[in-house]
Amino acid sequence: MHAVVISEPGGPEVLRWTEVDDPVAGPDEVLVDVVASAVNRADLLQRQGRYDPPPGAPPYPGLECSGRITALGSSVTGWSVGDEVCALLPGGGYAERVAVHAGSLLPIPAGVSLEEAAALPEVACTVWSNVVDVARLRAGETLLVHGGASGIGTFAIQYATALGATVYATARASKHEGIAALGATPIDYENADFAAEVRADVILDIMGASYLARNLKALRTGGRLVIIGLQGGTKAEINLGQLLAKRATVAGTTLRARPIEDKARIVAGVRQQVWPLIEAGLIRPIVDRRFPMRDAAEAHRVVADSGHIGKVLLTT
Ligand SMILES: NC(=O)c1ccc[n+]([C@@H]2O[C@H](COP(=O)([O-])OP(=O)(O)OC[C@H]3O[C@@H](n4cnc5c(N)ncnc54)[C@H](OP(=O)(O)O)[C@@H]3O)[C@@H](O)[C@H]2O)c1
Repeated sequence: MHAVVISEPGGPEVLRWTEVDDPVAGPDEVLVDVVASAVNRADLLQRQGRYDPPPGAPPYPGLECSGRITALGSSVTGWSVGDEVCALLPGGGYAERVAVHAGSLLPIPAGVSLEEAAALPEVACTVWSNVVDVARLRAGETLLVHGGASGIGTFAIQYATALGATVYATARASKHEGIAALGATPIDYENADFAAEVRADVILDIMGASYLARNLKALRTGGRLVIIGLQGGTKAEINLGQLLAKRATVAGTTLRARPIEDKARIVAGVRQQVWPLIEAGLIRPIVDRRFPMRDAAEAHRVVADSGHIGKVLLTT
């Protein structure tokens, strides 16, 4: 089969469509013929040599895919050869074929095409596990999402809106129309201070250090800040007095490195609680554009320049 191989750490040009060995399914895995994968910001870090895949994962990037099952491991139940699926992956999605743990498989939600379903697993699992599992966002509360136009942000806006929350989202001004259409009140992070404009019960943050002080200011009493990205750095001072006075919680998580059983629990939660909202038309995959997988370098350039709203797909 072919896969997008990282020939050496570097820029988009190091991504090469190369013939590689076919994957072999373990007892708890299925083989999926990939129809599409999607670019995540983490893939750019992996390409630069700054985010190694966890042990046992394929060396190629790709945290999600959609496709058809072509073979079943000996212990797999509940899935059949020929089933159309999408899947959360520890890596390896930028390939024509991938071995997937059965606990990481999801059916294609009704109303979503097989190709577009590749845009769902990573954002659905990340948003559900943080906004619901960790931060316990409830109807009537206010969510502030940083990077509202990102893959993660566009999903979080739709999900929180569907839950009955009020949503604010930071984004550059050119993307405001797009995220307002999804249900968020946009904030121009380049020209306004979000901490002067919003008080939120939950903040889903992708910036880390550079936003920590203002995030604490923007939290309401009892607020929950969940940090899932460090685009603004890793080290910052925290005013613990503010944390105590607000009875606030600061949490951080990553999805990729979690044990397979934990991922299976998250995937099951997404299937039970998020998939019905997609099937009801309350959430849809936001696909900005598609590239043939062999042109993954071009797709990485688009994402690096933040030229997109939502997800960029790679099709086989
Ligand atoms: N911890 C986890 O498990 C986990 C899982 C998935 C993703 N993530 C993280 O979530 C983030 C989004 O991932 P993605 O793949 O969806 O990324 P993406 O589509 O590439 O989006 C990146 C976003 O960052 C925004 N941004 C840049 N500077 C900003 C600032 N100063 N204030 C607010 N927003 C800013 C950009 O907004 P504009 O285009 O409007 O400038 C862009 O929408 C990444 O940091 C990623 O590492 C974490």
